[in-house]
Amino acid sequence: MAMPKDAAKIRMKVCSIVGARPQFIKAAVVSRALRAVAREILIHTGQHYDTEMSAVFFQELEIPAPDYNLGIGSTSHGAQTGRMLEQLEAVLEKERPDRVLVFGDTNSTLAGALAAAKLKIPVDHVEAGLRSFTRSMPEEVNRVVTDHLSSLLFCPSQTAIENLAREGLTNGVHLVGDVMAEALRFGVHRAQQRSMISKHLDLRPKQYLLVTLHRAENTDDHVRLRSILTGLAAIDEKIIFPVHPRTEAALGNLGWTAPPHINLIPPASYLEMCALESDARIILTDSGGVQKEAYWLGVPCITLRDETEWVETVASGWNRLVGADTDRLLKAVSKAWESGLRPPLYEGERPGHRIAELITGKESH
Ligand code: UD1
Ligand code: UDP
Repeated sequence: MAMPKDAAKIRMKVCSIVGARPQFIKAAVVSRALRAVAREILIHTGQHYDTEMSAVFFQELEIPAPDYNLGIGSTSHGAQTGRMLEQLEAVLEKERPDRVLVFGDTNSTLAGALAAAKLKIPVDHVEAGLRSFTRSMPEEVNRVVTDHLSSLLFCPSQTAIENLAREGLTNGVHLVGDVMAEALRFGVHRAQQRSMISKHLDLRPKQYLLVTLHRAENTDDHVRLRSILTGLAAIDEKIIFPVHPRTEAALGNLGWTAPPHINLIPPASYLEMCALESDARIILTDSGGVQKEAYWLGVPCITLRDETEWVETVASGWNRLVGADTDRLLKAVSKAWESGLRPPLYEGERPGHRIAELITGKESH
């Protein structure tokens, strides 16, 4: 068969699969670079669907509208992943992309990787090699399986590369840095120009704490949740707490009413979050993304988990792991922090462009 005249110009077709809040932020960076050198089809599984958990990120980060929204929504892990798998398979069969791109460690990541692998389409993983070494975490299962199905593994750190090597994964592994660092630079700049949240909430720089909490290991365990809330209630400082819908449900089940110094607000938009994080005195969180953002912004972080994948932030002295322990939480908040040095972590060199280049073999500007 004769080759079409402009065969060299035919662009690689990549299906990017997203579904949850942190994936929109990661995809925003990669998508911008990828679309310069490839044809991207964006598939939203619909895992997150509230305006403040999904649409607002597309709008603020100028992410192209998804080509498909599968509208899967919330249910149990097996049913959610299974429904995604079935529908993603149908879309991938129809689109027949050259490659599939997945991000992070959610059920959407796992379903995307599995659907592609079953169709023998190469799958590439952004944020590969992260490990908490806790298999009871749904995210750990998702990452381990996804990494083992992936052809290209884009790692944010040397630790991630070493984690993969221990599991025998060395081919296609690249240290590219973290796309969330690129997103944050954009977000902080935009937030300075546009975000009114500090004014609306009457906040003064470094005179409040910021809290986020959504991990199943905290929200679904009443003892842990109560212990964290007891700590927050005992802090003698203003606290801003944007509440994830999972946490809103858990607080309702507990019958918890916030004391006056804790301001519960709906999930923040990305620009609002950039503004809130930048000026917080301390951030308390169980989020993966927020721990890194705290580091990049030079804000001390207290992590409400027993372990972290982002071990370098702890080694640097900027992040303290307190688990769900009330006393450790309060001690960390009250002690003056010696900020010290903050060497660059995870930043890489334009990770979005590097990923686009590695996927397509073409230079992305
Ligand atoms: C998911 C990811 C987690 C990630 C987080 C980012 C998995 C297993 N977990 O957790 O790794 O850190 O996203 O935020 O994939 N809900 C709404 N509206 C929404 C979305 C969710 O009300 O738009 C509620 C539903 O009651 C749902 C619950 O939140 O049951 C949890 O949502 P789900 O997507 O299952 O998990 P997350 O806790 O968001
Ligand atoms: N984020 C946000 N609004 C919020 C809470 C978080 O925009 O109310 C952003 C946060 O700044 C980071 C990302 O969402 O960029 C982290 O996502 P999340 O904490 O939901 O998930 P994780 O990173 O733990 O998987």
